[in-house]
Amino acid sequence: MSANGLTGGDFTESGEPFKLFREWLKEAEASEVNDPNAVALATVDEDGLPNVRMVLLKGFDTDGFVFYTNFESQKGREILGQKKAALCFHWKTLRRQVRVRGPVEIVTDAEADAYFATRARGSRIGAWASKQSRPLESRFALEKSVAEYTARYAIGEIPRPSYWSGFRIRPTSIEFWKDQKFRLHDRIEFRRPSPEGTWDKVRMYP
Ligand SMILES: Cc1cc2nc3c(=O)[nH]c(=O)nc-3n(C[C@H](O)[C@H](O)[C@H](O)COP(=O)(O)O)c2cc1C
Repeated sequence: MSANGLTGGDFTESGEPFKLFREWLKEAEASEVNDPNAVALATVDEDGLPNVRMVLLKGFDTDGFVFYTNFESQKGREILGQKKAALCFHWKTLRRQVRVRGPVEIVTDAEADAYFATRARGSRIGAWASKQSRPLESRFALEKSVAEYTARYAIGEIPRPSYWSGFRIRPTSIEFWKDQKFRLHDRIEFRRPSPEGTWDKVRMYP
């Protein structure tokens, strides 16, 4: 980090967004007390009513931003319906925000299997035991479900449930925001017409 606290000098000089995002995430990993990869995920339902909740970013490269979830959850159904989503990272220690928007694709089965296999055994059981976003009659019902799947998969590998996988947001917009004095913040947005297009860079009023 340079003396003025900006990655590689003035971040608004950056020519492309992926390298800059990786630098900011790395700095957040060093400075945030927990979950530097936590991000607000916005979706819309079939009536156009927005919905937002946190998820954990589990993959990132020039193809996009990946997170994992239950595809039968509310977010899962909304994304499968609209095929679009947005993300908002806020790193409090760095006073920085990154916004991402774009169409969404499903990761390959091989990619989802590989990530599922890295999860703690309890989390893999949890993916089977939780009917995410559907009414739960009692905490006891959840614990019973966990006990049942723990017994079922007592021996051997735990397979990935067919309804549990990852989404990749393929960005058409990535906006970087950095706190500056008197709320005269720095903002730059990288935009492209489609995930295959070339980036345009626009500086914006704060
Ligand atoms: C910091 C944080 C990280 C989370 N990460 C995930 C995640 O990666 N995947 C997930 O399905 N839910 C995650 N959750 C739970 C979601 O916020 C949400 O409660 C749940 O997925 C149900 O959302 P839905 O009903 O809109 O589908 C996380 C919650 C928090 C607070």
